[in-house]
Amino acid sequence: MHIYEMAELNEEDRALVEAAKQATEGSYAPYSKFRVGAAVRLKNGAIVIGANQENAAFPSGLCAERTALFAAGAQHPDQPVVALAIAARKGRQFLNKPIPPCGACRQVISGVEDRYGQPIRILLYGTEGVLVSEGISPLLPLRFADEDMR
Ligand code: THU
Repeated sequence: MHIYEMAELNEEDRALVEAAKQATEGSYAPYSKFRVGAAVRLKNGAIVIGANQENAAFPSGLCAERTALFAAGAQHPDQPVVALAIAARKGRQFLNKPIPPCGACRQVISGVEDRYGQPIRILLYGTEGVLVSEGISPLLPLRFADEDMR
């Protein structure tokens, strides 16, 4: 894992981070007021976005990452997910530190990697830098996968 300045990212990755920032506009977070956006890039270059969606019954809500990944799987089942960017803000202010995905989202990212048989480049945005992980493995060592059920 490595932290990059936005300017150091290639154009595709920078665009994906910008899409994740923009996706926070679609967040519905009346309870936490914590607005998270996610954007996934597919093999064909298409970008699918998601944002956290909260509910009065708190556990019924869903994180931005899973919203985006499930939407991508539903809309483009044959397109591998190659990259995922995440951004979060309170009010208009984006967080300084990179926002890490929650444990449940890490598990889902891991499952999507297994589904398409390739690692997902993960870009965690903070105003001070973007943490980049080549695949979920560094963020979720010793993960549970379908091979563990065989
Ligand atoms: N949240 C996300 O959308 N992604 C994360 O990785 C962490 C948390 C959302 C869930 C909830 O709506 C709010 O942030 C506060 O936890």
